[in-house]
Amino acid sequence: MKRTAILISGGGSNMVRLCEDMTGDHPARPVLVLSNDPAAAGLTKASAMGIATAAVDHRAFGKDRAAFEAELLRHLEAADPDIICLAGFMRVLSADFVSRYEGRILNIHPSLLPKYKGLNTHSRAIEAGDTEAGCTVHLVTAELDDGPILGQAKVAIVPEDVPDSLAAKVLVEEHRLYPEVLRAFATSLG
Ligand code: GAR
Repeated sequence: MKRTAILISGGGSNMVRLCEDMTGDHPARPVLVLSNDPAAAGLTKASAMGIATAAVDHRAFGKDRAAFEAELLRHLEAADPDIICLAGFMRVLSADFVSRYEGRILNIHPSLLPKYKGLNTHSRAIEAGDTEAGCTVHLVTAELDDGPILGQAKVAIVPEDVPDSLAAKVLVEEHRLYPEVLRAFATSLG
């Protein structure tokens, strides 16, 4: 059974979908949901599912990212994950942190990478006049929203779309894609 930690910052809808999928013959199980925001709604949802939770408030560390990450690592090392899923985790992780779990950190990003790394992906796609948008699950490397792509899903952008309507359509695809990719990834680890 692959031990899986999930890092969140907010509502955690992707986290919920991943955890719902990790039952039965699934090769992975959730062992920790960790947030940089103690008030993240996803923490309550994870607790309700019987999953261990922890929070490390990044604001308590000011600009000292190394100290923040050391505290994240302390929780992760206690949970001893084989796989880490970033699911709406809105802090950038350092190269040092990533190297601890090289090749075992997955992220979901709400664009068709390599387009629109970073924030405000949906408004940027609409403003560019794109006819399609989507989401990407990729392995995390030291470069932001980079790293080998494990899966993508597309949606059409229609003229009526605004960033919120596009985000809602893409989120439906995220909820389908991320569990599918995690299942395949955990299986590939043997
Ligand atoms: C998702 O749309 C995810 O792709 C995005 O945040 C949302 C989190 O929703 N992630 C990023 O923008 C990462 N840079 P959720 O908390 O309901 O899963």
